Amino acid sequence: MIKLKKNIYFSIAIDGDSASGKTTGSKFIAKHFGFKLLTSGKLYRYVAFRIIKDNKKKLDNKYLKKITKNITFKKLQNNKMMYADDVTTYASSIAKIKFIRKLLNKFQKKFSKNKKFIIEGRDIGSKILPNADLKLFFKCSPAEKAKRRLREYNKEKRKITLQEVKKSLKKRDYSDKNRKESPLLFVKGAVLVDTTNLTIKQMEAKLKKLVREAIQKKYGNL
Ligand code: C5P
Repeated sequence: MIKLKKNIYFSIAIDGDSASGKTTGSKFIAKHFGFKLLTSGKLYRYVAFRIIKDNKKKLDNKYLKKITKNITFKKLQNNKMMYADDVTTYASSIAKIKFIRKLLNKFQKKFSKNKKFIIEGRDIGSKILPNADLKLFFKCSPAEKAKRRLREYNKEKRKITLQEVKKSLKKRDYSDKNRKESPLLFVKGAVLVDTTNLTIKQMEAKLKKLVREAIQKKYGNL
């Protein structure tokens, strides 16, 4: 970790496809530069998880307000169930609902009061932090993404084939990019980070350089 000048204000918006490396990359930047990190996908996963758990057949605004009002970092942390297949699929489905996005934006806006922070997700550079100091857009080839995700699943001993992983990532990316509300898109000014042919170490080196240069551009030497 490097020590930055105390009084810097710096925001980083990170967007990209599922399994493109953006979560690993965000965690690295946060740790290396001492930034606070919000992985916004967890917000959508939390809502999906609650709806499934509460067995809600019909979504009314009162219920949605109630479950989103008291979201805390603690509630978003270490909940393996939020990464179960049904929750993942449902999260992408409820992410299309404008009212849910509006409710979850409140949490993200509050988080944006931090001095040095990163938000990672799908609509961060476009909607949540349109004035971010640095915008990164992660991508990776479908074949490589599926391989990486399968490796993670194998570690967890989940029974799934490479073809199935590929299909489900493709479906989710399609939905996230083509929905009407806040679709995933590459915004002007964003820096493309293609992780297809990078090892984790190479990706980290690239991110370190990008972030350092962007901070220096705003504040001069670190
Ligand atoms: O990033 P993660 O895969 O955990 O996100 C789960 C789902 O939440 C995504 O597939 C997407 O539909 C939704 N999401 C979103 N906007 C964000 C973050 C996530 O719509 N900013």
